[in-house]
Amino acid sequence: MQGIVNKYNQVLADSRVLDGFHPAPNLVYLWPPALRAYRRIHRNMTTIKKTISDEVEEHKKNLPLSGEPNDYIDAYLMELEELKRRGEMDHYLSESGLRENVVDLFIVGNDTTAHSIRWCVLFLLCHPQIQEKLQVEVDNVVGSDRTPSLKDRNRMPYAQAFTMEVLRLSHLGPLGVPHESTEDADIAGYRFPKGTTFVANVWWCHMNPKFWPDPEKFEPERFLNPDGSVKTKVPSFLPFSLGKRQCIGESLALMELFLFIAIFMQKFTFRTTTGLPHPKAEGVDSITIKPPKPFQFLVEERKH
Ligand code: HEM
Repeated sequence: MQGIVNKYNQVLADSRVLDGFHPAPNLVYLWPPALRAYRRIHRNMTTIKKTISDEVEEHKKNLPLSGEPNDYIDAYLMELEELKRRGEMDHYLSESGLRENVVDLFIVGNDTTAHSIRWCVLFLLCHPQIQEKLQVEVDNVVGSDRTPSLKDRNRMPYAQAFTMEVLRLSHLGPLGVPHESTEDADIAGYRFPKGTTFVANVWWCHMNPKFWPDPEKFEPERFLNPDGSVKTKVPSFLPFSLGKRQCIGESLALMELFLFIAIFMQKFTFRTTTGLPHPKAEGVDSITIKPPKPFQFLVEERKH
């Protein structure tokens, strides 16, 4: 899978080379670096799709005949089998649809989660005292004899609050994803004709002092209730955007981030190379906002 991740990262880098060519795509043939990027995207995407196709074929060979599916591909294939058995058809479900979905999930889920983890590390380097609090929590709840698991999540509100504050301040998707209206609409006294592009200003929701006192400050405590439990409903917190097309990977992403942070904090301490806190957590604009690259740091194994 690391091979696919590398290939996809190359696709992203090459897409940036082609950014300016959208109004006149044929111009790529006149500029060799753009043509090379274009051809490499095609090659890499073909390899990614082929790897996923092979994975689907492998799943077909080992498909559980009954009981629980092992993963998404199994679940989808089992549903297709069930439809076939009943002699029914569903226009939304097909093997090619499955392959496309897996490519989409892999691509969308990989970049966002990887950047969020890098943001977590950057915020830890900026706030050593917060890192210590996270370590105290994991030591108290899990100790050092076993690896943290999702069962520990409810007893580790500070780790959850930390990941939420990282998602608030990293502005991974500052304007969500643009959507186009399919019919005329009247909203708040304004008329929006069919075909209007809408964006959700997530950045403003996350930085609005009305909802977040001192919004620039990194403060996981804002996601904790007075009794120390983690807040579940925070209407102005929208890292996964909102509405019908909001991120379908939200719960998976939160699980992954929790596990990474809990395991990192149990095993390691992250330090800057100077020994002083990293001065500032600033991002670089790309398809998603990502942390500056490269930022160097030291990883010390914790002695328990
Ligand atoms: C920290 C991690 C993540 C963040 C911040 C994030 C954020 C977002 C945002 C802002 C959108 C746009 C919603 C809209 O169109 O209004 C989105 C869409 C989407 N995300 Fe995520 N995401 C994350 C992780 C994941 C993961 C792990 C997966 C799947 C494995 C995933 C799958 C998707 C898919 C399929 C869509 C498109 C949904 C649709 O158009 O109906 N995301 N995500």
